[in-house]
Amino acid sequence: MVRYALACIALAGAAACGGSNAADKPAPPPSAKKASATSAPFGDLPNGPALTVYTLTNANGVEVRTIPYGAIVVSVRVPDKNGKFDDVLLGFDRIDGYAASHPYFGAVVCRYGNRIAKASFTLDGQQYALAANNGPNSLHGGVKGFDKKVWEAELFDRDGNVGVIYTITSPDGDEGYPGNLKAQVTYTLTTSNELTVEYEGSTDKATPINLTQHSYFNLAGEGRGDVLNHRLTIDASRYTPVDATLIPTGDYAAVENTPFDFRRPMAIGARIDADDEQLRHGGGYDHNWVLDRDRDGLVHAARLEEPTSGRMLDVSTTEPGIQFYAGNFLDGTIKGKSGHVYARRSGLCLETQHFPDSPNHSGFPSTILRPGEQYRSKTVFAFGVSK
Ligand code: GLA
Repeated sequence: MVRYALACIALAGAAACGGSNAADKPAPPPSAKKASATSAPFGDLPNGPALTVYTLTNANGVEVRTIPYGAIVVSVRVPDKNGKFDDVLLGFDRIDGYAASHPYFGAVVCRYGNRIAKASFTLDGQQYALAANNGPNSLHGGVKGFDKKVWEAELFDRDGNVGVIYTITSPDGDEGYPGNLKAQVTYTLTTSNELTVEYEGSTDKATPINLTQHSYFNLAGEGRGDVLNHRLTIDASRYTPVDATLIPTGDYAAVENTPFDFRRPMAIGARIDADDEQLRHGGGYDHNWVLDRDRDGLVHAARLEEPTSGRMLDVSTTEPGIQFYAGNFLDGTIKGKSGHVYARRSGLCLETQHFPDSPNHSGFPSTILRPGEQYRSKTVFAFGVSK
């Protein structure tokens, strides 16, 4: 077990500690590669501890880097149809970028992914007041959600699947939420180019919980323009419409004959600026789709395809919903990796989740975790190419 220490696990052979894969060079043939999980310094958090960056590499040369601050996924390097590797996540090169204010790049958001109306909910007859950090509402866990906390980390290898287990404890009353909550997030880079994210949690008082991953994808490579030519499929015939502050009205609306119909692959830019009240509320897509489930467990939720690079991403989840956020609030004020300016819609999020504001909607699937219960959720991001 390794906690915050520099560590190196070499799988199926020797791997050097502290290095990441060669930047923009084409990958060597897969046979020359070994899966590895390594760690290296990532700099000091301002007024905080020194941070480690964990680099997971599989035998195909796919590389995932993550830091314990916010359990942030810093980068994901995957090949295009010609075998050229690029980083497909928006983010920063250094810790100061992540430590400054930013819209949750790569982070795990918790205790409650997305919004809770008027930063308030009632549970078992008691009203709880949360930190309002998004107009009148609470967003992504409040002022200091789990995206701004340092998690404990442990590297592992399981037969060529390499990963990191992050754990964190949130005290009773943290950001207004009840109960001492223990949460765990496990990232695994598999031998078949999947990044799996498994969430667990337990509490000693009933509390809402809704963990999700807030990575911004641009499958052309971060910094390479907007995502409007990406084609998206979402396996959902309904979505949850919102009010002007992006709080669900409580209704379920059919996507049929609306710009929200992604049941067949559709360019994101095709209808994003359509004359539609829901799109006006979000400044584009920023909504929760209700997944069409024929069973419990892991089901396919969405596919993202970028035609130029041929890169594809399939998202599967055990969750009932997915928030497709088209990066509408990015406005060119953030300089990310290599000085790239992140303009409007230069990355998009596919946040698997329970529905926003569920604690205030008895008609939505419950997000309440009670003592003695175990919260479990799993999402798989599977990277591939179409030739
Ligand atoms: C989520 C929300 C968006 C926005 C981003 C962060 O995806 O749905 O409205 O707040 O996070 O900027």
